[in-house]
Amino acid sequence: MKKIAGMMAAAAVLGGFVFPALAADYDKQAQALMKADFRSKGMATVEGALTQDEAQRTCSAYPMERPKKIAAKLEADQLKQVKYPADGQYLGRWQEGEKIAQNGRGMQSSDKPGVPNGGNCYACHQMTKAEISFGNIGPSLYQYGKLRGQSEEIMKYTWAKVYNPQAFTACSNMPRFGHKGILDEQQLKDVVALLLDPASPVNND
Ligand code: HEC
Repeated sequence: MKKIAGMMAAAAVLGGFVFPALAADYDKQAQALMKADFRSKGMATVEGALTQDEAQRTCSAYPMERPKKIAAKLEADQLKQVKYPADGQYLGRWQEGEKIAQNGRGMQSSDKPGVPNGGNCYACHQMTKAEISFGNIGPSLYQYGKLRGQSEEIMKYTWAKVYNPQAFTACSNMPRFGHKGILDEQQLKDVVALLLDPASPVNND
């Protein structure tokens, strides 16, 4: 009888229940495996793929939904780290912003170091009427500035949102363009101008 109970306990473990201590071991083993088997190529580095910051750790720990308190803390921590433009000017040139929004290059193994990254905004957003090829994971940004205006508050929000979307939406699918250094300060100004400049095609028919 004792033996059967022992076997059943073993079966219960094999049946898929993983102790937290074991889960941590699997993490370590997976990391070791990736370090041993994957190779960095160009801009795509193994270190980049394996090094998680606080936000990435939290979002991995709660892949579906996270408790409100945890989401709020993540957003507050990310917002604190937003760097605003040194000269207080949020708007660059929308013409450059449009090129950045169209450009999907960067962070890939085929990209040369030193070549500026694109923002690839159209992969997830509608932005102008002229561009009819766009993704819809993100909301349409067509008429963004026309609908919201150009108050200091809106300019500051838009900057922070593009700099780090997780400052407002924990675990957003949108890349953290400023926080992760994907776009530099001038590029951020240019895409913010694309969204907010009244002359930008985003805000015209
Ligand atoms: C991989 C997909 C993806 C890419 C690329 C992306 N976004 Fe987003 N974006 C989203 C998603 C999803 C949301 C909605 C969730 C959120 O608010 O974070 C969003 C939200 C936004 C918002 C907030 C809209 C609002 O109503 O407040 C702005 C502004 C924005 N994106 C601008 C941009 C710009 C500018 C770029 C390019 C530099 C860009 N996004 C690239 C996915 C993306």
